[in-house]
Amino acid sequence: MLKGRHLIEPGDFQIEEIESIMQLADNIITNPKGYSLVCKGKLLASLFYEPSTRTRFSFEAAMLRLGGEIIGFDDPNNSSVSKGESLGDTIRTIECYSDIAVIRHPREGTARLVSKFAKEMPIINAGDGGHEHPTQTLTDLLTIRKYKGGCDNHVVGVCGDLLFGRTIHSLVKTLNRYEGITFIFISPKELKMPENILHQLNPDSYRETTNLDDVIGELDILYMSRVQRERFVSEEEYLRLKDYYILDKKKMRKAKEDMIVMHPLPRVNEIAIEVDDDPRAVYFKQAKCGMYVRMALIAKLLGVEDNND
Ligand code: CP
Repeated sequence: MLKGRHLIEPGDFQIEEIESIMQLADNIITNPKGYSLVCKGKLLASLFYEPSTRTRFSFEAAMLRLGGEIIGFDDPNNSSVSKGESLGDTIRTIECYSDIAVIRHPREGTARLVSKFAKEMPIINAGDGGHEHPTQTLTDLLTIRKYKGGCDNHVVGVCGDLLFGRTIHSLVKTLNRYEGITFIFISPKELKMPENILHQLNPDSYRETTNLDDVIGELDILYMSRVQRERFVSEEEYLRLKDYYILDKKKMRKAKEDMIVMHPLPRVNEIAIEVDDDPRAVYFKQAKCGMYVRMALIAKLLGVEDNND
C-alpha cells in the first residue's frame, strides 16, 4: 500500500511496490482518458530550489493530466525562503494548502529532512544534491521495461560522471535488486562510482574501466550521463573532464544491434546529435516515460489509482 508514503530514495519502496507503479504506468499509457480525472480536486506543490526541465515539467504535466492542479515555485527567491524562512516552516505551511509535494534541493538529505515535517502530505524527492533522484529511477525502469522487455538479466554500461550523478546512484542501487544484472562502470578515475555504492554490490556483478570503446560491444544498455558542472569545486577540473566521453556514430557501430542508449538528460556534449536518429537512442522516449511513471506515482501516493471509465 503506497497511499500516504514519502518517496525519498528508491530503497523506500519494495521491488513489488515499484513493479506496481510500473504496471499502473502501463495502464495509463494504454488508457490515458481513463485516468484523466482521478486527481480532480487535488493539489500538487512543486518546490524547485534548483533548475529543472524534465522533472518539473513532467510532474506538473502528470498532475494536470490526472485532473489535478499545481501550486509552487521554480525560483525560491519568490517565496519567503528569501526572507530567511526555514524549510521546516515552509513545508508545514505548504501542507496547509496541498495534498502532495515534490521538492528538488541542491543539498543532500534535504528531502528526507523535510519529510519529517510533513505529517499528512506525501513528499517526493525530485533530486537532492549528488545523492538520489528516485523518480528518475522509476523513469529509467519503465524505459528499460518498455524497450528491453523487463529489468532482469542485462549487461548495463554506466558511463560518465559516476561520482556526482545522482540519477546513476539511484538507478544502480535499484537495478542491483533485480536478477542477473552485470554493471560495467565507465568513467575517468576522478569520477569513479563512490565506494559506499560499490560496497553495496556483489563484487562479481561489476567491473570498472575508463575505456568505452573496449566494452561497448558487450552492453545491452548504455546509460550515458553528463559531467555535473554544478557539483565541481574547480572549474578547471570540470573543463578538463567534461568531454572525456562523446558517444558518436563511430562508437555506435561497435554496439549490439539491440543495445539501447539511455540518458537522464540534460545532455551537454556527451552524445553527438548524429546519434539521435539511431533507433537504439531512446533518451527522448525515456523523458516521455517520466511523465507516465510520475502520473502513476502521484495516483498511488494519493490512493486514487482506480480509473474513472
Ligand atoms: N533528468 C532530470 O532530472 O532532468 P532535469 O534536471 O531537467 O529535471
